[in-house]
Order: sequence, then C-alpha cells, then structure tokens
Amino acid sequence: MYKIVFMRHGESTWNLSNRFTGWTDVDLTEKGINEAKQAGKLLKEGGYTFDLAYTSVLKRAVRTLWLALDEMDMMYLPIKNDWRLNERHYGALQGLDKAETAAKYGDQQVLVWRRSYDTPPPALEPTDDRASFNDPRYAGLRKEQIPLTECLKDTVARVVPAWDEEIAPAIRAGKKIIISAHGNSLRALIKMLDGISDDDIVGLNIPNGTPLVYELDENLKPIRHYYLGDADAIAAAQAAVANQGKAK
Ligand code: 3PG
Repeated sequence: MYKIVFMRHGESTWNLSNRFTGWTDVDLTEKGINEAKQAGKLLKEGGYTFDLAYTSVLKRAVRTLWLALDEMDMMYLPIKNDWRLNERHYGALQGLDKAETAAKYGDQQVLVWRRSYDTPPPALEPTDDRASFNDPRYAGLRKEQIPLTECLKDTVARVVPAWDEEIAPAIRAGKKIIISAHGNSLRALIKMLDGISDDDIVGLNIPNGTPLVYELDENLKPIRHYYLGDADAIAAAQAAVANQGKAK
C-alpha cells in the first residue's frame, strides 16, 4: 500500500479579498503562513516522512510547501516545481471579486464558472497584461500550452499527464510524496484518482492548508482518504470555500 499527501496552499491575499486568482502569483497572508506551519506540525505529529515533494510554479503553493517542510525539519527534501500543478486558469475573471461577480451575473452563473467540468470562464484576450506569454517561468512551453482560460476538464488534461509521467512512477519506485498545489488542480487530480463523475465534482471543495492523505493500493487506486486536523473546522472551511462564489 502507498500513501500520498495532498495539500492546498494556505490562505492567499486574494483568498482573503475573495478574488478569482488562477495563475495570478499572489502570496500568503499571515493566516495562510500559520495554516502552512500548522499543516507541517500535523504531519510531523502524525509521523509522516517524505522523499520527494511536488508543487506548482506559483508562490502560494511553493511557500506553503517550504513552511510545512520547515516545521517538519525536512527542508532538504528535493522539490519538483511543475507548472502543470498550477491553479486552473480563471481567464478574464482573474482579479474580480467573486461575490460582486455573483451579484452581477447571478450565483448560478458563478457556480458554473467555478465548478462546472466543461464550461470555461470567459477567456483573456491574448494581448491582456494578465496573459502569461512573457512570464519567464513559462518560457519552455509552447504558446498553445499557456492558457487564456480553463475549465476543470482542461486542468485535468494537464494534471493527469504530470501524474502519469512523473508522480505515479515515483510512487511505484517507493518514493513517499507530498504535493502542495491548488483548489482546482487538486480537484482535477482527485477526480481522476477517485473516478468522480462530471456532475459530482461540482460539490467537491478543498480547504486551505490542510493535509489530505490518500492511501493507494498496488495499482494506485484509492483505498481511503482523510484530512488531518479537526473534522468540524475542516467541514466549516469547505463550506466557506463553497460560499465564496455567492452574492452577499
Ligand atoms: C482561485 O483561483 O480563485 C482560487 O484559488 C480557487 O478558487 P475557486 O474555489 O473559486 O475555484
């Protein structure tokens, strides 16, 4: 049996101000820093050790990983940064307030943009300053690999190859792995691992800064999964994520 730990980054500045973030590279808040440290403490107390870490190329996930590893006294761990673990690109919504967007377009439309499997938010214009074409961290990618918007299906299409080509072989080779990523890139991975339907994935919300342990069988099929931490606080945090897209 294998174990892998997933972790969404701690609260970011744009989680706090309730803005659509996507590929925008915002940092953690003080609360987010503390969530990341607390995640590390829980992992340490639970006796978790790792051989390898994966994260995205966005600082909120990278810093969450650093802080958690620091708490575990495991800063020596090799870290692979993979753009394919980035948050789902939020297109032209990036930077907008989620509740204000719901007041303007309706809660249902925002739910579709946030959680539907195959309806992407409106795309950025290629000339928009928010587009990532000139960002050096994506210099190795072909232009068509750099999104202007993504639905979850598009995110699945880049996350699953990262799993198949990189992460799954490392697990099979016996490496104990932690992945620090994002709400929707983790939803994409979990959808694939658990075989969640396109309809049911709408209801899955991932709380910030909370280790999520998956136990996998020899074929890397999930046996069971659980969050580390207080169950009531985790349920409340998941409900709060779900409610971020509702008009006030
Ligand atoms: C974002 O990109 O805005 C968040 O990281 C995830 O947002 P969501 O829960 O609204 O999809």
